[in-house]
Amino acid sequence: MSKTIKKICCIGAGYVGGPTMSVIAKQCPHIDVTIVDVNAARINAWNDKNLENLPVYEPGLSEIVEEARNRNLFFSTDIDRAIDEADMIFISVNTPTKNYGKGKGLAADLKYIELCARQIAAVAKNNKIVVEKSTLPVRTAAALKSILDNTGNGVDFHILSNPEFLAEGTAITDLINPDRVLIGGENENAIAALVDIYANWVERSKILTTNLWSSELSKLTANAFLAQRVSSINAISALCEKTGANVDEVAKAIGMDTRIGSKFLKASVGFGGSCFQKDILNLVYIARSYGLTEVADYWDQVIHMNDYQKHRFADHIIQTLYNTVSGKKIAFLGWAFKKDTNDTRESAAIYVADYLLNEQAEITVYDPKVSAERIYADLDDLNSRSSDENRRLVKIVNTPYDACDDAHAIAILTEWDVFKTYDWQKIKEKMKKPAFVFDGRKLLNRKELEDIGFKYYAIGE
Ligand code: UDX
Ligand code: UDX
Ligand code: ADP
Repeated sequence: MSKTIKKICCIGAGYVGGPTMSVIAKQCPHIDVTIVDVNAARINAWNDKNLENLPVYEPGLSEIVEEARNRNLFFSTDIDRAIDEADMIFISVNTPTKNYGKGKGLAADLKYIELCARQIAAVAKNNKIVVEKSTLPVRTAAALKSILDNTGNGVDFHILSNPEFLAEGTAITDLINPDRVLIGGENENAIAALVDIYANWVERSKILTTNLWSSELSKLTANAFLAQRVSSINAISALCEKTGANVDEVAKAIGMDTRIGSKFLKASVGFGGSCFQKDILNLVYIARSYGLTEVADYWDQVIHMNDYQKHRFADHIIQTLYNTVSGKKIAFLGWAFKKDTNDTRESAAIYVADYLLNEQAEITVYDPKVSAERIYADLDDLNSRSSDENRRLVKIVNTPYDACDDAHAIAILTEWDVFKTYDWQKIKEKMKKPAFVFDGRKLLNRKELEDIGFKYYAIGE
């Protein structure tokens, strides 16, 4: 008989931990869920009465938090207490790419995971099931287990891998209606305890159980395949621009082959987000560490193609603007890595901006959900120029019309639906002529824009 879970603790109140645990709390009113974080400001924001101030923007999230918060969903900085009281502990802390030492720029930095493991070991006075939720390199569970068993108080720890497949912007629907739930582990009872939680709302046939390593590797592989599809269609987009083919037509034609499938074939200025690049770099690092050079090189190309696409887009802007953007105002519509999120990690916009700023462009950014503070932090993190210079060259405004006023060109970096509803006639009148639009998301209607008098470029046409 598996143990019935009554209390869950989740360490890490970020883009994964926050939405995932909110949905578990909503779907399982009989389970108390406490999300803890070292970042007190973040926890305060999750507890804010004004739901507009939640630290993560996701359609449908605030309604769930409103329903479950302080009923069976709690946000706290008291990590020890939440660990002590929980039967099951999810680890959902960040695992960024290492920026120092061995594996710098490739391997995942597991220091936050290790800190969690040591804290759990130190606090736990009874048996716990520990669940890896963050994406981790294969065989991390072994390291976790070793720390827990060697530093703990003689209690039993069972480790499960339960990677999260939600995509940002659609997190809540992905969680409520997942394609599958994956649970890897060695102990039947521990696996069954987690299966029972998901079975409150997910069909049993969609809950897969595997060994630990298959589960860990499946997560990296899923993200690698998804990113590869984007790089593959982006590679074809470059060829389309040279030959007169249209990448949307090509995507539609190949996508109707059921072996290929139609989803995830949208050419773009390049993929971003916290997962794709990090997970592929991880896969490359692991493959190299096992001496699998060809495997490593194969996946590395997905990243190369993505970098190429971002540069190619920026280069095209420069070339079209008569080979110089120095002192020219370029309006950026969108900064988030995709629509319907305020997350900007690895967003293509950051790198396109960096490239144009190297050419002394002046950039004005409008994004419906991203704060000015975040945008400047993203630019400062590049270490390409001083933060004073970033603030001198980049302005962040509150309306799209302010962004485009007097601009030489508009670059669309995020596919926010609202951009389609703007008064493009009015925008054009206030721009420098010829008025250029560079659509990195193939969002707008070419005919409509050309009829208004824009010079319109879209990826892959
Ligand atoms: C991804 C995976 O989809 C998800 O399963 C995993 O759990 C985390 O990583 P996420 O990064 O949140 O999710 O968003 P996703 O929708 O996958 O988009 C990633 C990037 O690829 C975005 O920048 C998006 O704009 C881009 N993309 C996606 C394209 O350019 N074209 C596409 O067809 C699809
Ligand atoms: C292929 C295309 O499928 C078809 O649409 C096109 O018109 C011609 O090229 P074909 O080469 O006849 O058809 O066979 P296919 O079933 O695609 O297999 C090609 C090779 O891939 C075979 O050697 C097959 O064994 C191998 N393969 C296919 C795998 O190794 N694994 C797979 O999952 C699928
Ligand atoms: P993800 O997209 O994986 O959810 P985030 O960066 O959004 O990543 O969230 C991870 C959260 O984990 C952050 O809020 C961070 O403060 C928190 N965190 C990292 N290490 C610890 C730790 N040792 N204890 C508690 N919280 C932690």
